[in-house]
Amino acid sequence: MQKDRLVFDLLQKELKRQREGIELIASENFTSLAVMQAMGSVATNKYAEGYPGKRYYGGCEVIDELETLAIDRLKEIFRCSWANVQPHSGAQANTAVFLACLKPGDKILGLDLSMGGHLTHGSPANFSGKTYQAFFYGVDRETGLVDYAQLEATARQEKPKMIICGASAYSRDWDYARIRAVADEIGALVLADIAHPAGLIAAGLLNDPFDHCHLVTSTTHKTLRGPRGGIIAMRNDFENPFGLKDPKGNIRMMSSLLDLAVFPGMQGGPLEHVIAAKAVAFGEILSDDFKAYGQQVISNAQAMARAFVDRGYQLISGGTENHLMLIDLRNKGITGKKAQESLDRAHITLNKNSVPFDDKSPFVTSGIRVGVPAVTTRGLKEADMLTIVELIDTVLKNADDQTVIDTVKASVMNLMRAYPLYPELS
Ligand SMILES: Cc1ncc(COP(=O)(O)O)c(C=O)c1O
Repeated sequence: MQKDRLVFDLLQKELKRQREGIELIASENFTSLAVMQAMGSVATNKYAEGYPGKRYYGGCEVIDELETLAIDRLKEIFRCSWANVQPHSGAQANTAVFLACLKPGDKILGLDLSMGGHLTHGSPANFSGKTYQAFFYGVDRETGLVDYAQLEATARQEKPKMIICGASAYSRDWDYARIRAVADEIGALVLADIAHPAGLIAAGLLNDPFDHCHLVTSTTHKTLRGPRGGIIAMRNDFENPFGLKDPKGNIRMMSSLLDLAVFPGMQGGPLEHVIAAKAVAFGEILSDDFKAYGQQVISNAQAMARAFVDRGYQLISGGTENHLMLIDLRNKGITGKKAQESLDRAHITLNKNSVPFDDKSPFVTSGIRVGVPAVTTRGLKEADMLTIVELIDTVLKNADDQTVIDTVKASVMNLMRAYPLYPELS
């Protein structure tokens, strides 16, 4: 590595940045060294188009074992009958599900992007919104909770073929049973995109989407604490209810339509080094330590949410049940953009975020999204959350005062020195 001085130096700088700062981006985490080592392994050298036992290349016998191990561990985590670990990312996992289940022009119903949903759930800027006819539900203006009545009314009126639940900026659990009930009424499939809370679901700390949803997708790099990537899983296999067939015109079970949608439908060779790292992360999730991690994430998020509320911050829905919170800063006289930029200068990293019914553009926003998976991995506990909120509050009240920001930065670096990150790396 040190042979390429330019790249090595940049990676050292990034390691320093990660070590010294407080990482509050809700979709980020720190993997174990073992996960990173698997990613930097010889598996990156291998082409393995196809699936275990059915590859288009020779020499795949070891890779087959590796991918099968990742699949088996994932199935064990979520008690599933089928899983695909090849999607390169969460977006690809969702795309493969759409390809397997829907025809272009079919209707889909998802949570509006501006209310906390994700681009791939039908946004006009995304493949999903360009290919399918997308309808949206939102959250209630008063409670900040998903407006299930609106979801049901739109479902009954538009009769989408797929209802998508899951979000990027929603701090509450989901009523999957209620969504399944209306889906059954209109003959729709339910996709749960659990990219954000997957780790908490794996730890048994939130409602289980597999009990009610036909299909589940996730990223592997957020609360699952694995490498950057995606997965698709199903508890029970079933026949595509809309009569979609494989390229040869045969009726197939959903599991094989999904496999075909990932490869050759949408991707080429799987990233087997990432799949090796997924297997390592899934092994870690199956250990007892992971449940304790999940519990600490929720406990830290709740301690942080209370501390923000005590300081007069307006949390959408008033609090959190998962790993993140969405804060409306309009009563604090600062935009999400300015908050993010000033906090960055103090080495506190988070992202500006639209809040429901926002009057500002997505480039400015009225809010911030704050998440605790990464700081919890570093070992921070409830008392530290109070310190972090105090530091954030100081920055937001003094966003134009570089001296105050420098003092906060020194406190941030001091706090994080007590929680070493990757001490094995120089
Ligand atoms: C709910 C949800 N789905 C899908 C994705 C897409 O994942 P990726 O960035 O890996 O494509 C994200 C990423 O933030 C997400 O929050």
